Amino acid sequence: MSERHVILELKKLKKYFPIKRGLVVHALEDISVSIYEGEKFGVVGESGCGKSTLGRTILQLYPPTSGACIYYGRSLEGVSPACGENGIDLTKLRPQEMRVLRRDMQIVFQDPAASLDPRQTVGSTIEEVFKINTDYAPSVRKEKTLVLLEKVGLKREHFEYYPHQLSGGQKQRVGIARAIALDPKFVVLDESVSALDVSIQAQILLLLEALNREKNLTYFFITHDLGVVKYFCDRVLVMYLGNVCELAPSKVLFRSPLHPYTVSLLDAVPRPVVHDRAQKERILEGEVPSAIAPPPGCPFHTRCPRRMLLCSKEKPELREIEEGHFVACHVYA
Ligand SMILES: Nc1ncnc2c1ncn2[C@@H]1O[C@H](COP(=O)(O)OP(=O)(O)O)[C@@H](O)[C@H]1O
Ligand code: SF4
Ligand SMILES: [Mg+2]
Repeated sequence: MSERHVILELKKLKKYFPIKRGLVVHALEDISVSIYEGEKFGVVGESGCGKSTLGRTILQLYPPTSGACIYYGRSLEGVSPACGENGIDLTKLRPQEMRVLRRDMQIVFQDPAASLDPRQTVGSTIEEVFKINTDYAPSVRKEKTLVLLEKVGLKREHFEYYPHQLSGGQKQRVGIARAIALDPKFVVLDESVSALDVSIQAQILLLLEALNREKNLTYFFITHDLGVVKYFCDRVLVMYLGNVCELAPSKVLFRSPLHPYTVSLLDAVPRPVVHDRAQKERILEGEVPSAIAPPPGCPFHTRCPRRMLLCSKEKPELREIEEGHFVACHVYA
């Protein structure tokens, strides 16, 4: 295997949302992780654990509260004091500098219908990306759009279609076409296949895989669906209440999960066979605590079947237990 290059490094990335009456939502707590160029990086965890916030904060759609996002995908030397040969800290870029990077870093949302304008044809929706970001002549824009339609598995005829004439899967193909139009390097897929039927989901995943192979695209693949992650992603980050619990290659994570939360999460996946008693006891109990008043110590201690005295007092650090397998849990300290 060739040497892997880091494309993005998150350093203690934190995102707090101030809400009413001085309350603050702790959506992300000091996330530190490196993402390799060309990998399909999965992010899982229950609803509200901070997956979407993480994707959006990386893209600077939300300004981070603190921490850094170092991007190594291109050099902007001379353009911004925030960069050099040691990467570009996205959090330090001015809006016009970040605009240059938008070409490299794209996002595809969950709901393909909501992200398309019902009054705009498919062709003009995609062409718009070129109109805003390039100085291509109209004929070039059109030709590039037609090529993109074919690339994402649509037909040239779809240029003239309106969103209501497309199926859910076809709409998501348009969303993907828009995202890859400017040849990005890093794409956040936020539950991008979650709303689709299983068979359509499989087709879109095949398309994403083909694009990943052809263009060495890096995916930041957010989902609550563990089955999809197991099948699709190279590595998986497990989040709980804005924190990283575990990070490992997919195969390792699904074969030998270490963090008690990951173990519970994998046990909670419905299986065709009836659970035996020992398994049942490990299935998650209790509510996720509020992100407005997160518990002290380990964020999972209020629900953890393995908690110890230390767990409510001291927050466990993320440690590398074996090569490439990181866990934040006192059991493995
Ligand atoms: N714009 C916002 N303002 C305030 N709180 C937010 C905002 N966006 C997300 N949150 C809160 O941040 C936490 C993480 O949310 P989110 O990133 O959407 O989780 P996920 O995508 O994993 O379901 C939740 O507690 C959510 O309520
Ligand atoms: S640190 Fe303690 S509470 Fe947290 S996951 Fe590990 S054993 Fe459970
Ligand atoms: Mg989300």
